[in-house]
Amino acid sequence: MEEEKRALLCSSIEASPEELVASILPDDREIHHPSGDLQVGLVLASSLSAADKGIIWRILADAMKEMYEGSSFGWNPTKKKRELFHKLARFILVRTRESAEVVAFTSFRFEEEDGFAVVYCYELHVSPNFHRCGLGRKLARMLFDICRQRRLDKVMLTVFKANTIAIRFYENIGFVLDPSSPEYGSTLPADDGDDSWEDEGGGHVNEECDYMILSKAAIPSSYY
Ligand SMILES: CC(C)(COP(=O)(O)OP(=O)(O)OC[C@H]1O[C@@H](n2cnc3c(N)ncnc32)[C@H](O)[C@@H]1OP(=O)(O)O)[C@@H](O)C(=O)NCCC(=O)NCCS
Repeated sequence: MEEEKRALLCSSIEASPEELVASILPDDREIHHPSGDLQVGLVLASSLSAADKGIIWRILADAMKEMYEGSSFGWNPTKKKRELFHKLARFILVRTRESAEVVAFTSFRFEEEDGFAVVYCYELHVSPNFHRCGLGRKLARMLFDICRQRRLDKVMLTVFKANTIAIRFYENIGFVLDPSSPEYGSTLPADDGDDSWEDEGGGHVNEECDYMILSKAAIPSSYY
């Protein structure tokens, strides 16, 4: 990784939550929702209250436990909690203004991946009652805003192939298969022009791997 990029990555790792929240578009910090106004905040994992950690864990476990159990990763709550609340993890939290309860969140870390300076999205979750209102899109855009403002290369994430809703969501907001993804290359479009990531019998995906790595580069033309 070139020196300048490394310096940008280091300064991002050291940036305070206040500095990072300034990267998020003001329009996205107050969210109007049919069930009441929502507020956005950014914190380090180490600053989360026990109550917030409990809600975050419940939202994640409710959505993902079964998927992990059916995957090669298996479901290991202790290991997952260690990763989720890692000291370098940062959280963008969306709370109701009324009760201050967390209803959506994303967690991310600044990392080097294959020579790229990236915002790695470890989690992105919206409580079921708030699905399909654009909250997921807004959270993803905040990660992308931070990535662009810090002049890093891309936002990356890992998704289970079985999580077809999440794949459709990420596809819709401009994520593509990352070159570091295990099946990259074997998913190149066939002659029929089908460039879908999902296996619909066309045999494009590598059956041995149950996850894929997606990314969105921080170049102006890919901004959504
Ligand atoms: C994936 C997830 C974060 C999407 O959040 P959301 O706030 O409901 O999504 P948005 O309303 O921002 O949707 C943006 C676009 O994604 C696509 N999308 C979202 N949910 C979809 C669904 N259930 N079916 C099909 N497309 C969907 C749509 O194209 C949508 O645009 P549209 O509403 O204009 O059609 C949410 O379903 C979730 O929390 N799932 C459980 C946790 C999870 O799987 N997280 C990802 C782990 S990698």
